[in-house]
Amino acid sequence: MKKTALIFTSVTVLAIVAIIISCNSSDAKEKAIPDATGFIATPENVKHGEYLVTVMGCDDCHSPKTFGPRGPQLDIERRFSGRPAAAPMPKVDTATLKSWALMAHDLTAAVGPWGASFAANITSDATGIGNWSLEQFKTALRKGKYKGMENGRDLLPPMPWMQYKNLTDEDLRDVFAFLKSTKPVENVVPAPIPPQHLK
Ligand code: HEC
Repeated sequence: MKKTALIFTSVTVLAIVAIIISCNSSDAKEKAIPDATGFIATPENVKHGEYLVTVMGCDDCHSPKTFGPRGPQLDIERRFSGRPAAAPMPKVDTATLKSWALMAHDLTAAVGPWGASFAANITSDATGIGNWSLEQFKTALRKGKYKGMENGRDLLPPMPWMQYKNLTDEDLRDVFAFLKSTKPVENVVPAPIPPQHLK
């Protein structure tokens, strides 16, 4: 009789411990990336997203660089914040543009037959993708739409969304999860310049 009571108590204690652990881990999941749009990501999503963003070269265009003796290096403090708002717009020789597309030395700005385009801020700041929903991100990367708005303008070159649109739903979600977890950097990127206004 005593033995049965002991087993019963141990089972009850174990069950309570299991419930506490499972509550805690689901709490941790939600705390991983709180989001006003209802987007929830696990630490695994973020980690895989970081891997994808790194190998897909988003830094090339979206991160400002510093310049040392060994050439351009990522400016970690401003990573993913796009073309700095205060960066001067170098003079463009429009005759050259008939046969060339050019990029600023840190690759955050480009000029070509489409005019001038500036890499967007894709940090978690409100001036980046901080307030975006996953749906918006999908529309931007799959349909090439500015701010991920269905009726927005088309994204300009050299943003290679035609390649990125082939990402699986899971990969796209993980890329978004990582970008949402980045350090917010406030930077309102300049608006594109149409070709006829380039001088
Ligand atoms: C070769 C340069 C280049 C690379 C590489 C690149 N982008 Fe872009 N991206 C741009 C430019 C330039 C723009 C702005 C285009 C415009 O204003 O029309 C842009 C725009 C965007 C936008 C739209 C932002 C908005 O406010 O509408 C998103 C989102 C984005 N890029 C995400 C990414 C991600 C994620 C990667 C890596 C997987 C990436 N980009 C790689 C150049 C690049």
